[in-house]
Amino acid sequence: MIKKLVAGNWKMNGSLAANEALLAALQPVPGVDVALCVPYPYLAQLQRRPSGFELGAQDVSEFAAGAYTGEVSAAMLTDFGCRYVIVGHSERRALFGEDDLTVARKASSALSAGLVPIVCVGETLDEREAGEVTAVITRQLAAVADLLGQEGLSRLVLAYEPVWAIGSGRSATAEQAEEAHAAMRGWLAGQGVDAGVIRILYGGSVKPDNAAELFAMPNVDGGLIGGASLVADDFMAICRAAG
Ligand code: G3H
Repeated sequence: MIKKLVAGNWKMNGSLAANEALLAALQPVPGVDVALCVPYPYLAQLQRRPSGFELGAQDVSEFAAGAYTGEVSAAMLTDFGCRYVIVGHSERRALFGEDDLTVARKASSALSAGLVPIVCVGETLDEREAGEVTAVITRQLAAVADLLGQEGLSRLVLAYEPVWAIGSGRSATAEQAEEAHAAMRGWLAGQGVDAGVIRILYGGSVKPDNAAELFAMPNVDGGLIGGASLVADDFMAICRAAG
């Protein structure tokens, strides 16, 4: 059985003072990997964080270095001790025009620097209602697989995040999550990788009261937590539910 990973995605939230208060209220959770994916400016502050919490970022440049104003490279993230970086979050895709190929290039850039990309996929509500869930997530995965190949694919963490569940308070049901995760794992197996060891996280309105049910699903290997990761008691409860 895969050790679960719970990653908090703070998104564009926080302040030096608020982060200090949040960090002071976090405690290690045995048996679960936990990561905090924070805005770039706070990576320095997070050098001091409770033990047992890995560090991550929320985006990375597809380029290694050079004249790319405003970009942050994968090597810069490793300088700050990042282990993970989220790529292809639906907010990046929808609001900042990232297409499947850009997401794949960012994942490649992260892998080259030794980071573990958390590659997000997921359908919109229209796509779900049109019966296109599997088609959408496999299209998004295929773009990554085409660029990274089997070896790269096997080093990723994946996150299934139905767009309609993000920040909406309306999580996918455990059964809906399991169905999508099982389809993803089946697709991975079809690519010839050892699908049983690739972590597939669920994200979208995970809260203390639905986390245990989601994490009990056989193909749900943890969570990518947005809003609830900003509330220490809620985040701790979600991490414990994964233990
Ligand atoms: O990356 C996290 C996801 O977008 C989920 O966000 O937990 O606020 O719905 P949420």
